[in-house]
Amino acid sequence: MAITDTALHGKVALVTGGSRGIGRAIAIALGRRGAKVIVNYASREDAARDTAAAVEAAGGQSAIAAFDVADAAGVTEAIKAIGKDHGGLDILVNNAGVAINGLVLRFSDEQWQKTLAVNLGGAFHCIRAATSLLLRAKAAGRIINITSVVGEIGNAGQAAYSASKAGLIGLTMSTARELASRGVTCNAIAPGFIETDMTAEHLPDAQRAKLAEQIPLGRIGRTDEVADAAAFLAGPEAGYITGQVLRVNGGMLM
Ligand SMILES: NC(=O)c1ccc[n+]([C@@H]2O[C@H](COP(=O)([O-])OP(=O)(O)OC[C@H]3O[C@@H](n4cnc5c(N)ncnc54)[C@H](OP(=O)(O)O)[C@@H]3O)[C@@H](O)[C@H]2O)c1
Repeated sequence: MAITDTALHGKVALVTGGSRGIGRAIAIALGRRGAKVIVNYASREDAARDTAAAVEAAGGQSAIAAFDVADAAGVTEAIKAIGKDHGGLDILVNNAGVAINGLVLRFSDEQWQKTLAVNLGGAFHCIRAATSLLLRAKAAGRIINITSVVGEIGNAGQAAYSASKAGLIGLTMSTARELASRGVTCNAIAPGFIETDMTAEHLPDAQRAKLAEQIPLGRIGRTDEVADAAAFLAGPEAGYITGQVLRVNGGMLM
């Protein structure tokens, strides 16, 4: 049940990794509330353009921005340009992420570093670069970090991924404490198992059914279900919520 209103009209939002999956759904959900959404991507310009068109079809405005969130200098430059070109920044959604899976015993330094650099470093770089703009946001600035259920419970074969997502929860709470006195909120959303390229790619049907059995609500989640939570946290209804982890996981963790 999508939130449809004009509550985000006049707001500028940046969604990292907005080209596909959960980020795409978040971009559309923010557009549906009237925001201008900057859709960031790493390499898939076609997908970013497609998302931008969907944001506009949903009632928002859009633009695309290519940058690698792991590249600190590139992020600083890109966010500065976004502030200049679009008259500021009100909402930052740190969604870009990679899932590199493997047992600790066989995990390489490169795999570890890449996972941490994108999933945790990326959010840090964006928050640092965006804070001065968010502090000048017309109403309260908003930061939403997309973590994961495995950041809270771990997962065999996902040590680096879950460490990056647990770190993101610490980053969320510390940022929330640093910016609260200025009215900027910072929250995390922790999705459970959501159907996207990141997950579907690796999953045979039998495994999918087995997984669904372990989820209390009995099914894998949809991207729009995560996006609705983001649209809520970005909106005026969530002004008194900060430093929280909103779990959208079908009951996988209670
Ligand atoms: N799917 C799930 O079940 C699930 C569960 C919990 C949490 N999450 C989290 O939700 C977020 C989105 O996941 P998803 O399943 O939607 O993933 P996805 O379908 O694989 O999409 C990943 C997105 O991140 C972008 N991206 C990757 N590396 C980047 C980088 N270095 N710089 C900028 N953008 C980058 C990709 O851009 P390109 O299109 O250019 O490649 C793409 O838009 C991730 O943080 C993930 O950890 C997902």
